[in-house]
Amino acid sequence: MNPEALICPLCASAFTLHSRQLVCPNNHSFDIARQGYVNLLPVQQKRSRNPGDSKEMVAARTQFLNTGIYEPIAQKVTELVRPLLQQDRPLRLLDAGCGEGYYLDYLIQALLPLGKLDAVGMDISKEAVAAAAKRSKDITWIVGTNARPPLAPGLDLILSIFGFPSYEGFRPLLKPGGRVLLVEPGPDHLIELRQVIYPRVKRNPPPGLAKAEELGFQLADSQSLQYQTRELDQEAIQDLLQMTPHLYRAKREGKEAAARLTSIQLTVDVVFRTLEYQA
Ligand SMILES: C[S@@+](CC[C@H](N)C(=O)[O-])C[C@H]1O[C@@H](n2cnc3c(N)ncnc32)[C@H](O)[C@@H]1O
Ligand SMILES: [Zn+2]
Repeated sequence: MNPEALICPLCASAFTLHSRQLVCPNNHSFDIARQGYVNLLPVQQKRSRNPGDSKEMVAARTQFLNTGIYEPIAQKVTELVRPLLQQDRPLRLLDAGCGEGYYLDYLIQALLPLGKLDAVGMDISKEAVAAAAKRSKDITWIVGTNARPPLAPGLDLILSIFGFPSYEGFRPLLKPGGRVLLVEPGPDHLIELRQVIYPRVKRNPPPGLAKAEELGFQLADSQSLQYQTRELDQEAIQDLLQMTPHLYRAKREGKEAAARLTSIQLTVDVVFRTLEYQA
């Protein structure tokens, strides 16, 4: 836990660490949980009682990601971040919507031996962050929202992996020339499964960037990764459906067809876009 990377979500002051609490000069205090993360999401910034992914979704995601089926995505993220490492100072980065921490943990394990990193993993789901904190002690894990991440400014990089980026929220955190790496589903992502669930399948590209561009972000790089998974068994299929709820917004027939699947091989199609922020 690096308190210097964080600011008070109520008054934006710096924190000092007092035993198991972060305390700001205005006496706002936040407990460090037993698992090692800190909840910096004030009730005023919550839209619901338990925002973000539920405990069941988090458990399904952990089980699925631990199979290694998405490891090429984690490798690609790592490959894109590696050249940003600096000789003289730590690379400051935020994983915004880190979920249960698979990708950030993978990245830190791969890159810490090669250079310094100061990494914060943030998610709005307390359940997700509690699970993430079990993956690594080399990362500062917080509960917080992309709309107002409680981080000290001057970040080099923000990761948004299958997340909900908020360019208004990200902009004040980045140094000039700082980057956002968006990792998003491409048109053919999991298409075989979508064909089972939906009567008609849309092959949508990732969303447009008009809003980001309006706020001073420019597309600097775009790459994609496509591969076929091995045969997924019934358990992996059910985990994948549970961690990707939009797949389950299907009609009854679609759900029943998915529940009957005992094995399937899937296309993974992921787009990696780097945006650069010019103040
Ligand atoms: C599809 S999951 C992806 C999680 C992780 N990046 C991964 O790929 O395994 C989206 C995540 O965004 C989180 N989330 C939703 N709204 C958020 C917000 N406003 N701020 C931060 N995280 C948010 C959810 O709790 C969930 O963990
Ligand atoms: Zn404060």
